[in-house]
Amino acid sequence: MGKLGKEIIGIDIKKLSHSLKKAFADEWLAYYQYWLGAKITEGPMQEAIVKELEQHAKEELEHAQMLCDRLIQLGEIPPLSPQEWSEIANCKYLAPTNPYVKNILEQNLEGEQCAIKTYNQLLKEVKDKDHVTYNMILKILEDEEEHEEDLESLLEDLKLGKH
Ligand SMILES: [Fe+2]
Ligand SMILES: [Fe+2]
Repeated sequence: MGKLGKEIIGIDIKKLSHSLKKAFADEWLAYYQYWLGAKITEGPMQEAIVKELEQHAKEELEHAQMLCDRLIQLGEIPPLSPQEWSEIANCKYLAPTNPYVKNILEQNLEGEQCAIKTYNQLLKEVKDKDHVTYNMILKILEDEEEHEEDLESLLEDLKLGKH
């Protein structure tokens, strides 16, 4: 990012990067939680649920890529070791110890709700201060809201026995 690009950011770049790094860690943990969940989950509607989990995993990884690109544009270095992810993350990693579909969906739903809170907060932090980051976070928040809705509908279908 050039001199002027940095100058027009109305928020301390170190502070902003700190928040972006935490979100980056969240995304990797969310990616892995979905990715592994899709591999091991079992129960009714398995095929539809696996498809959705895989789609969400893919989108969480895209979010990690967006956050990484923005950090680099800001002249910052993303967390260099996966060990840092759980240390700095906003949202807990929920290990899929019980692979039954309902448990996996509920764990991921908890993760999405944490992500929605985090990005909603981050959006307020950058509003009117960094338009480019604002747009990126808004796009991510839209995805997380959609993820929450997808998981809620799957849980509802399971409950209604639509399988
Ligand atoms: Fe995400
Ligand atoms: Fe998500």
